Amino acid sequence: MARKKLQRFEEIQTFPFYFETGYFTLQQCPFPLKGKWRNDFFGNDNPLVLELACGKAEYTVEMAQRFTNKNFIAIDIKSDRMWVGANKANNLGLKNVAFLRVPIGLIEHCFDKNEVDEIWITFPDPQPQSRVSKRLTSPRFINRYLKILKPQGLIHLKTDDGDLFNYTLEILKSFNFKLLECNYDVYKERGDDIITQVQTFYEKMWLSQGKTIKYLAFQI
Ligand SMILES: C[S@@+](CC[C@H](N)C(=O)[O-])C[C@H]1O[C@@H](n2cnc3c(N)ncnc32)[C@H](O)[C@@H]1O
Repeated sequence: MARKKLQRFEEIQTFPFYFETGYFTLQQCPFPLKGKWRNDFFGNDNPLVLELACGKAEYTVEMAQRFTNKNFIAIDIKSDRMWVGANKANNLGLKNVAFLRVPIGLIEHCFDKNEVDEIWITFPDPQPQSRVSKRLTSPRFINRYLKILKPQGLIHLKTDDGDLFNYTLEILKSFNFKLLECNYDVYKERGDDIITQVQTFYEKMWLSQGKTIKYLAFQI
């Protein structure tokens, strides 16, 4: 393993807001903070927002600074990527963030019913038509989010992928969710707000290739 990656693996473990657990452990017993994130970790009763497939967690770090009255948890399976956001959060001394390395497919083992207010899904792997069930907005995953989201909880999706975007619109129709925002090209359609102000690592890459960036938000 490259030295830098190894250093990141080691360093992220020292951050007090970083947690990880394996697939088999989670399957056997729930994550210890399940149902207790507010009381036992954040020490407040503020809304809880998740960023799934966070990568370097650009949204978590930015939102945590802007919205100090909310708690944010960045989730991914790759801790060397998460280290980038976690290191920034550590340097900034952010108190309203956590980083959780778990497979999203076991998210309901980490959060209790009604524990989560909002979910952001930022540039997830689009997955081809042949693997739609692996999409983070497929019914397989949506049903998991429904187990942890509060009634009327929000889900945001930012992506460059037109197929994933249209697929997600179909899925939310089939669930009868309420579409709140739908932009096929955020930089043409939106003003200056958090959707256009924050660019993730993958977003910058897609923008440099001339792709348009899409965004939707819906309420369950
Ligand atoms: C294309 S990257 C996007 C990263 C970041 N949001 C960005 O925009 O730069 C997709 C991320 O999803 C993570 N991922 C994919 N499937 C996952 C799963 N089942 N559980 C946890 N993370 C997953 C990958 O590790 C990767 O970091």
